Amino acid sequence: MKRELTLNLNQQTDRSYRIDIRPGLMERVPALIAQTRRYERVYLITDSNVERLHGRKLLRRLFDVGIEAILLSFLAGEASKNPATVLALQTQLLKAGIRRNSLLVALGGGVVGDLAGFVAATILRGVAYIQIPTTLLAQVDSSVGGKVGIDHRLGKNLIGAFHQPAAVFIDPNVLATLPQKEFRNGLAEVVKIAAALDRKFFEFLEWKAARISKTDQNLLADIIFRAVALKAGVVETDEHESGLRKALNLGHTLGHALEAASGFTLKHGEAVSIGLAAEARIAMRIGCLKEKDYKRLVGLLRLFGLPTTVPPIRNKARFFSALTSDKKSEKDNPRFVLLGGIGRSLIGVNVPFPFIEESLQHGSTQRVWR
Ligand SMILES: NC(=O)c1ccc[n+]([C@@H]2O[C@H](COP(=O)([O-])OP(=O)(O)OC[C@H]3O[C@@H](n4cnc5c(N)ncnc54)[C@H](O)[C@@H]3O)[C@@H](O)[C@H]2O)c1
Ligand SMILES: [Zn+2]
Repeated sequence: MKRELTLNLNQQTDRSYRIDIRPGLMERVPALIAQTRRYERVYLITDSNVERLHGRKLLRRLFDVGIEAILLSFLAGEASKNPATVLALQTQLLKAGIRRNSLLVALGGGVVGDLAGFVAATILRGVAYIQIPTTLLAQVDSSVGGKVGIDHRLGKNLIGAFHQPAAVFIDPNVLATLPQKEFRNGLAEVVKIAAALDRKFFEFLEWKAARISKTDQNLLADIIFRAVALKAGVVETDEHESGLRKALNLGHTLGHALEAASGFTLKHGEAVSIGLAAEARIAMRIGCLKEKDYKRLVGLLRLFGLPTTVPPIRNKARFFSALTSDKKSEKDNPRFVLLGGIGRSLIGVNVPFPFIEESLQHGSTQRVWR
């Protein structure tokens, strides 16, 4: 006899969440958490730099409004985004008595957000968490959308989950302490979002490029808002990246491989910038992108002080293994998101290897990092 049943998820609770972008918001975060009256304890997860610059202050403010909070931190840097750190955090949380109604707060850049979010997704089969991104990259990109995860020695972000935050609190003021190099990294993701999805936003960036700085809070709030709104719109229509959300991987297929081949001495944003330029060369070669649009893209990246030429790839084997084991590609043939014009992306383009090799040759005699 045939047996059938339906597992119905339509009635699941609303998982919508607020994304607040406001200069000075950090001071209001404890009150906003307290107002929910939902969490019996807060675990603040951060890295060694952000702990010193912003973490201890936030912890004090949580105490001030009567919230029971514990701060956990790990060594700053991409090298910490691994299973060992996850296990260490899980052990500390379990020993500290974490419960299903505890709240995790991810305070930091993309590394903290991805790691803490992954811990939140897995510990006790999932607890709520809030993103408080403190790098421009995390504010415009990684804190929104619920992609969380860690790196594996076989590739970046290969272990992960979708776990949406309960809220995202973005305060552009915290960027004042960010090193200029990290600020530039975030601009690479801003250019990516604009180039992939919104011609008008791209034009706005070209117009304002010279004025954009980490201390111009109002302009930053504007840029962050536009980037986040675009990303949120994409995530709403395609939460699990089966279609449109893939557009946000523009520049990332080559970018991730370059990042891995450099042994992660290349920062994510730098790698994305080089990836955006190299993938645009592929798009031009294939005939879907006009040379003038390629020049605009490279021009804007350079205005922001970002690298656009491919550095010598010391570890080619690692580069190609990262490229083909990239979880975004099917079988061994890498698929790309390519630009079809400023603000328009073509998803899932199959690119033959000779075209990839060719796109890497450009400028390979120039050293662009360290
Ligand atoms: N989940 C996603 O959707 C998504 C999207 C894009 C990128 N990412 C991930 O994000 C990571 C990169 O994020 P990142 O560039 O923010 O790196 P990061 O978290 O390592 O931060 C960069 C550096 O800035 C420091 N820092 C953070 N905030 C600071 C502040 N306000 N003042 C001074 N220093 C500060 C950090 O300690 C660190 O040394 C990568 O692992 C990438 O894979 C994830
Ligand atoms: Zn990225």
